[in-house]
Amino acid sequence: SEAVSVASRLLDWYDAHHRDLPWRVPPKALAGGARPDPYRVWLSEVMLQQTTVEAVKAYFRAFLEKWPDVGALAAAPAEDVMKAWAGLGYYSRARNLKACADLVAQRGGRFPGTEAGLRELPGIGAYTAAAISAIAFDRPAAVVDGNVERVVSRLNSIATPLSEAKPEIRALVERMVPTRRPGDFAQAMMDLGATICTPRRPRCMLCPLRADCSAIVSGDPEHFPVRLPK
Ligand code: ADE
Repeated sequence: SEAVSVASRLLDWYDAHHRDLPWRVPPKALAGGARPDPYRVWLSEVMLQQTTVEAVKAYFRAFLEKWPDVGALAAAPAEDVMKAWAGLGYYSRARNLKACADLVAQRGGRFPGTEAGLRELPGIGAYTAAAISAIAFDRPAAVVDGNVERVVSRLNSIATPLSEAKPEIRALVERMVPTRRPGDFAQAMMDLGATICTPRRPRCMLCPLRADCSAIVSGDPEHFPVRLPK
């Protein structure tokens, strides 16, 4: 179907242009059989909830150096974890991180693979559960963050204000998610939103989805997503 070809065009672009991020297993390594470490995926996604990619990089590396697996993090004094988190902000994330590590360590260090199982853990909401399920376990979860909302709003030139369009956007993402490489698809959507389909002055000439994009035809892709006046 058309939706599948959009995903395959995006995956081809991701193979060539993905960002190298410290928590990411690159597509070539995945194709060679490497598996993501759910601990690293979880740790990065919790850090990325309210913090930029650039700011997270150094913290992610420092945490991995100190606590290379979930058992190590569970064994650490809470005070040390809070200290290592200092500067990232939103400290309830650090308290939940520690509580989650303790629970996962109690289950043999294995994270649940399903969104429902992940959502039962402290600090893991709908978005983070979908991201971990897709990226760590390669399940076809719909991972919808602000970047993805913008990409999908533009692809479909959604005229409804974003605050009302979220269910429609989620349904569109669910239809786009491919059965092959859903984890790479989720990360490709994030990279497209972060590097090409940016809020201001999107780089449409470089976009692998320009032939699929309804907002380009409108002449003003920046107009999407539509926002209600404050
Ligand atoms: N933002 C949230 N999760 C991310 C990820 N895995 N890669 C890049 N940006 C992200």
